[in-house]
Parts: sequence; structure tokens; C-alpha cells
Amino acid sequence: MMSKQFAERTLKATEAGIADAFAVSDNADLISFAGGFPDAGLFPNAEMGDAFKEAFGNTQNLLQYHGDHGYQPLREQLAQRLSNDGTPTQPDDIILTQGAQQAIDLVARMLINPGDGLVVEAPTYFGALGAFDNYDPTYYEIPMQADGMDMHALRKALMAHSFKLIYTIPDFQNPTGVVMSLAKRQELLRLAREYNVVVLEDSPYRWLRFTGEQLPTLRALDTDDRVISLGSFSKILAPGLRLGWASGGQKWIAAIAALKNGADLESPFMTMVAVSNYLAHNDLDAHLAKLRAVYQAKKDAMVRVLHQELPAGFSADDPQGGFFVWLTAPAGVDMGVLLKDEILPQDHIAYIPSKNLYPSKRVVNAARLNFTGEDAATIRTGIARLSAALARATQPTVTAALS
Ligand SMILES: Cc1ncc(COP(=O)(O)O)c(C=O)c1O
Repeated sequence: MMSKQFAERTLKATEAGIADAFAVSDNADLISFAGGFPDAGLFPNAEMGDAFKEAFGNTQNLLQYHGDHGYQPLREQLAQRLSNDGTPTQPDDIILTQGAQQAIDLVARMLINPGDGLVVEAPTYFGALGAFDNYDPTYYEIPMQADGMDMHALRKALMAHSFKLIYTIPDFQNPTGVVMSLAKRQELLRLAREYNVVVLEDSPYRWLRFTGEQLPTLRALDTDDRVISLGSFSKILAPGLRLGWASGGQKWIAAIAALKNGADLESPFMTMVAVSNYLAHNDLDAHLAKLRAVYQAKKDAMVRVLHQELPAGFSADDPQGGFFVWLTAPAGVDMGVLLKDEILPQDHIAYIPSKNLYPSKRVVNAARLNFTGEDAATIRTGIARLSAALARATQPTVTAALS
């Protein structure tokens, strides 16, 4: 029972929160496909250690307050990188945040009054819902298709209701792995202009493409300063750095900075200096190439076993990058109930059930599987075990007849 001392948002966060979705058991046998964890073996430990040491040796006032939009040399390096990626960016277009997660929170805080219309992809990243929930938006779920959100549904929603913000993950979407096509990127911006809606582009997986052509960011296609674009060092260096960024026009960055001031004053200066040192002395592109090769091999291992062993009626997508494979069960199968009642306690496998990924909680027959956190052999074992569990749980008569 929640005490009356707590605000309503606390009740919401503890009921539907992230912790619940990261269902863990303390069983040593647990294989988790639940978290969005990078491969810890790929963290550049030694290089980051050197970068921190250099920060402590060389930087004046390292441990002092600084209070601007984040360490200027790092914003310059980042602006260069974003510009090289086709999105012309100046250092002043960037504010460094504590992960992309903080940037999502600050953008919602900047724009959303209680009841304001907010478009989200359905399904979407549950951490974003956790941030948005605090501002009491009215959610409109736009279904995901193989090439991004359904633009007919978006147009219909925009015609019928008023909106402040469209939240999208156009590159290797969390959780479906889908990439929004160029045509849909252009259409989304046309609609946003027509209905005067701000677009929040959240793209932490963008530089983890295994195959296919990179598409322009929404911010690169933006003509009237309505896209705020988010990125992160979490998936490409290490999430423990808690370092991400928002980039956009001055009016947005200034407002985000004012709100960040009230949230935490500034991001940790020593981390920003260390990441800047890391980028100065190491080849991030070579590091990214290594991540892509390892993650593609893991993704291939997961998809191969899924396609071989999933029982009839189940299907799994084969993404071109990112961290996740989307698994669809036959209608009527509740992957959340199965997880809690059987697959976690008996089979010691964890995943994120689709129910947690829709504000309405309306789709229960799907799941998000992460392929980056575990090693390839464990992925093969885990997916074989998961497939057998799904067969047992959903087709008991067939399994019984065969045994
Ligand atoms: C789409 C998306 N946005 C934001 C985040 C938060 O990342 P960060 O660690 O940069 O806060 C994640 C992390 O999983 C994510 O998948």
C-alpha cells in the first residue's frame, strides 16, 4: 500500500516502473535478454582509465563548479562528429546531459503541461514512458510498421487532436529494431510542420548499423527548427559514464539548460573532460567498427536459433543494427504472464514483455530480446531454452504427444 504522503507520479512510477520490467531472479542459471546492456567486455577500460588520469593531471579546476552547457572541447568534438554524420551542428547547438534519459526528461518538462497531446510509437522505449508519465501527457499511440510509424495513423491523430510533441526513435528502434524509411522521415516532418508539433528524435543506436545504408537524421532534414535530437555515449562507450546530449536550435537548448539548472546544475565535469580526452587520443570509429562486428555476430546467433527453434505461430525480426530483436507470439499469448509464472521461475530466462512498452498496455503477445549483453554461446543456450519453454507453455498437447 502506498502512503498518502507520496505524490501520484510516485505511485505511477512504482506500479509501472522500469524496475518491474527488469525482472531478475537471483538464480545463477539466469540468462537475461531483458536489459539494454552493452557487452561489458567491450568497454574501453584501460583507455578510459588513462583519460580520467589525464583529466586529474592536466585540468585546472577539474573539481570545481562550471555551470555552462557542458565541457566546451567535448561539445566541439561532438559537433564535428554530428556534422560529419550529415547533421550540420555547432558546439552551441549542444547541451551535455546525464545520459539521453535526462534529456528526454528535460524535453518533456520543457513542453508538456498536464493533459497535453504526446505522440509515441507503439511500442516504444519504456524508459521514455517513465520520464513522460511524470508530466501527465495524453498519449496517442501510433503503431509501428516494418519501415517506421504508420503515417496514415499519425495524420489521422494530428487531424483529430492537438499535440505538443512527437517522440520517435528512428534508428533501430527500441524495442522493435525498426529503421524509419527516408520517405517516412520526410512525411513525419511535413506533418509536424503542418500541425506545428515539436519532434523529439532519440537515436542512441544510430552508429550501430550492421548492414544497409545510413539514412539522414530527422534533424538533418528539419527546415524550421522543430527537431530536438538526442544521442548518448552509453551504447557506444559505456552507460556508467551517464553522458548523453541534446542538439537543436538555440531556443530549445537555452530552455533545456535553464531546466537542467533546476535539476542538477550541470553534468559531472570530470566525466566530460575524460570523454573528451578519450576522443582526442583514441579512434572512436575503430571502436564502433569493433562493436558493430561483435554485435552483428551476436544478433546473427540469436536470430538463427530463433528461426530454427521457435514453435509454430511465433516469429522474430532480423534487425539491421541496434540492440534488440522483436519477438511476436500468437494472438492470445500473454508474454508477461508467461514470464512471471513460468519462464523466469522455471526456465530462468528474462525478457521485456510487450505490455510494458505501450502506455495503454494493450499489446501482450510480444517481447523485446536484447542480444548485446550475453555472449554468443549463452545466447544460443538461452534462446533454445526460451523456445522450448514457449513450446511447452503454449502448445502443451503437441509437446505431450511428441514426448
Ligand atoms: C531509445 C533510448 N533512449 C534513451 C536511452 C537512455 O540512455 P542513456 O543511458 O543515455 O540515458 C535508452 C537506453 O536504453 C534508449 O534505448
